[in-house]
Amino acid sequence: MGGGLARHFGALGDAGADALAAMINDAIDRKAARAGRPRGASDEDAPLAGHVLAMVFEKNSTRTRVSFDIAMRQLGGSVLVLDSGSSQLGRGETIADTARVLSRMVDAIMLRTDDHAKLEEMAAHASVPVINGLTDLSHPCQILADLLTVIEHGKALPGLELAWFGDGNNVLHSILEAAGLFKFNVRVATPAGYEPDPAFVALARAGGAQVTLTQDARAAARGADVIVTDTWISMGQADAADKKAAMQPYQVNAALMAEAKPDALFLHCLPAHVGEEVSAEVFEGPHSVVFDEAENRIHAQKSVLLWCLGRL
Ligand code: CP
Ligand code: NVA
Repeated sequence: MGGGLARHFGALGDAGADALAAMINDAIDRKAARAGRPRGASDEDAPLAGHVLAMVFEKNSTRTRVSFDIAMRQLGGSVLVLDSGSSQLGRGETIADTARVLSRMVDAIMLRTDDHAKLEEMAAHASVPVINGLTDLSHPCQILADLLTVIEHGKALPGLELAWFGDGNNVLHSILEAAGLFKFNVRVATPAGYEPDPAFVALARAGGAQVTLTQDARAAARGADVIVTDTWISMGQADAADKKAAMQPYQVNAALMAEAKPDALFLHCLPAHVGEEVSAEVFEGPHSVVFDEAENRIHAQKSVLLWCLGRL
């Protein structure tokens, strides 16, 4: 993604499978090495001392904002936050000019926005790395944390059977991209009309992943290693009653979980709408690793930052 010499992280493919595997390994090592230290204390080597990350938010965030902030502190650097409402972006200053200004002032930029083209534009005009902190199209940082979580819980990626339920959204798109890179299989159970972007299905298949698109939730769950869902209504989408009604059969509940392998993991990027896409029983139950997954945003993103800044 983008021009210039900067290493952008707009998609998982910008790094590729080998670099992503190295990032996951480094995240595991760094996480273990700093066990017991206060969360805001830096790692022993403070590899990004003196570096500043600007975080630009055109959408709400809890995990992405906090995890990038803590990640930079642990790497020895710091962050600043620009919200569109309180910066000149909200008054119409262009992404291109914002990219060029920030590139003179900080070492890396994270952008959370709606239209993925805005992220591409930021990367095209920035001379420092630009990181995708979620767009309407994809959420690669989330999926790196998800892969880390799956591996930490003892599951190997090649041949893994992952099943997705509900809306064919940005998070699923990055899962599909990861599937092609790491050769795992994805069963996608959605109502008709809510399938993922076919370009991401094609990307996964081109990489050697098997992708099954179905409207049969039970069949998708059968024998799965990992069960994943997300909100039925993503940020920026209308809270439509007809969409929620169509999604109802795709709720991850105890009956659906019972179809999966006995040691299956339940993942959700959060925020969750318990009682909608997931039942309380599953969300709070023994398969759920959603808070490990949330914490892993810190550890995975430290690797993203190190990779972007040429330290990995
Ligand atoms: N999962 C995730 O990206 O959470 P936030 O929207 O809180 O950043
Ligand atoms: N699909 C959700 C993910 C939130 C982290 C959204 O885009 O709102």
